Amino acid sequence: MGRLDGKVILVSAAAQGIGQATAIAFAKEGAKVIATDINESKLRDLENYSGIQIRVLDVTKKEQIENLAKDIERIDVLCNIAGFVHHGTILECKESDWDFTMSLNVHSMYLMIKTFLPKMLAQKSGNIINMSSVASSIKGVVNRFVYSTSKAAVIGLTKSIAADFIEQSIRCNCVCPGTVDTPSLRERICARPNPDQALKDFLDRQKTGRMATAEEVANLFVYLASDESAYMTGNELIIDGGWSL
Ligand SMILES: NC(=O)c1ccc[n+]([C@@H]2O[C@H](COP(=O)([O-])OP(=O)(O)OC[C@H]3O[C@@H](n4cnc5c(N)ncnc54)[C@H](O)[C@@H]3O)[C@@H](O)[C@H]2O)c1
Repeated sequence: MGRLDGKVILVSAAAQGIGQATAIAFAKEGAKVIATDINESKLRDLENYSGIQIRVLDVTKKEQIENLAKDIERIDVLCNIAGFVHHGTILECKESDWDFTMSLNVHSMYLMIKTFLPKMLAQKSGNIINMSSVASSIKGVVNRFVYSTSKAAVIGLTKSIAADFIEQSIRCNCVCPGTVDTPSLRERICARPNPDQALKDFLDRQKTGRMATAEEVANLFVYLASDESAYMTGNELIIDGGWSL
């Protein structure tokens, strides 16, 4: 018996990294997963997993979200994982960087939750899991100005949804990883002027001497999606190998 047997779970940003690992972990525990992303070719890697259906979705596009909602009868868990890391202080953050980051990291969650919450309310149950970060209201991290701002907003959004709908059996939590070894992290390291030094800097700040794997973060998503965590709502769950200690 799987820990998520019978649950219908919608995952954004499932084509790679934490979203992909999470979609696979959900399916292994018996969930019916709707794995979405803007990257159709990478999303196709998930097609062979039993229990996963794929769907192209840009979470910044209201019309696409509403069209997807029309095709989904029931949704038990909504996982908002899509996000983007801008590198720099406020001085390097152009208005377009601000707008793009806030749109993808925060406004997308507003659109997704606003669209799918009514279905959960009609079902009289629902579970929302948002992706935040330790780089947020939890920890000041250099060169993560707009990213940290957006991820702090996710924590506020999460607590607000949890407080507003707790009596209607809706729960809402967010996950706050430290540094996770994913394709986009590797790309960001390679884009630095000295990639070897950039990798060393990332590892030096890890008290465990290593980054998290996407699978370790996925395991936390499984716990939050399952009924094992039924009494948890409004929490920011830190998974950072002690980085924020
Ligand atoms: N990797 C880390 O160290 C780390 C740490 C803390 C939090 N996070 C957060 O975890 C989430 C996933 O990070 P990752 O490193 O696993 O991901 P990633 O950057 O490797 O992959 C992101 C995925 O999002 C998809 N995507 C981009 N724009 C989209 C859009 N508009 N609509 C739908 N999908 C879109 C991409 O196609 C890609 O498949 C992000 O929110 C990120 O901020 C990551």
